[in-house]
Amino acid sequence: MYGSFFIQQYLENGFDKKEAQSEIDFVLDILFDYKAKDFILGKKLSDKEFLHLKKIISERIKTKRPIQQITGNSFFLGRKFYVNEHTLIPRPETEILVTEVLKLSKKITRPLILDIGTGTGCIPITLALENPQIIAHSVDISKEAIEVAQKNSALHKTGNRIKIFNSNLFQNVTEKYNIIVSNPPYIPVKEKPFLQSEVRDFDPDIALFTNDDKGIEFYEKIIDSADDFLLQDGSLCFEIGINQSKDIKEMLNKKGYINIKTIKDLNNTDRVVIAQKQHACI
Ligand SMILES: C[S@@+](CC[C@H](N)C(=O)[O-])C[C@H]1O[C@@H](n2cnc3c(N)ncnc32)[C@H](O)[C@@H]1O
Repeated sequence: MYGSFFIQQYLENGFDKKEAQSEIDFVLDILFDYKAKDFILGKKLSDKEFLHLKKIISERIKTKRPIQQITGNSFFLGRKFYVNEHTLIPRPETEILVTEVLKLSKKITRPLILDIGTGTGCIPITLALENPQIIAHSVDISKEAIEVAQKNSALHKTGNRIKIFNSNLFQNVTEKYNIIVSNPPYIPVKEKPFLQSEVRDFDPDIALFTNDDKGIEFYEKIIDSADDFLLQDGSLCFEIGINQSKDIKEMLNKKGYINIKTIKDLNNTDRVVIAQKQHACI
């Protein structure tokens, strides 16, 4: 099996065995659409495929660049997305956010959704594919990220249901939405030296860092303005970082949001916050 040859290379370079196996499986899947069961059933790589796999794994071991950036692809809720050095590699935590937004969207007829800080576009594209009623608008401050999101929208043929444009938060946004979703940068820049090197050295700074001490400045700015961009009974949905839920819930409370709830990740950490705009009193 190829597995043991490559795993040995990973181990000799200080990688963990589980991580090595999962990366080899990832590359075989993303490059050739081969699953572990194909090899159990006797699948063999051609010489060309073997060399391709070898080149990618050698680069990974030598540079420590994330395997998703080397292959240019990642998976999000089971679908492929293009990634590059300008986009955050989609994370499993964000799958929790999307799952919650999806549930919410199913209670609304023809939901109009805004995604702030879209990166690869994994949030609006997945939402649009999972709920055919959804129309989504996506913004990002990074022009390079927008190009990647547009490529992903074309890959998944969501073109006319997703509008992707450049905006610093709400700056170029003119409509009102049923749901505003965001996974904004939420790591205080002072924590940069302590991050795992693969994140620190390869994910784009603009996707990760805030200038405040608690990592909550983007939530503050979005909550401050969101009321003008939410329809009656509209909801705000955020992915949040560790120890941020108390501050964010307080901000939402102060601004009069109701039905504020948090959803935990697999580590029992509050990971998603959802809140609803208060009904207008007549
Ligand atoms: C944590 S990443 C999330 C990417 C993607 N939504 C995801 O969940 O994988 C944050 C994104 O916000 C974008 N961003 C940073 N500052 C922004 C701003 N002021 N306005 C709009 N987008 C911004 C970054 O370029 C990055 O794509």
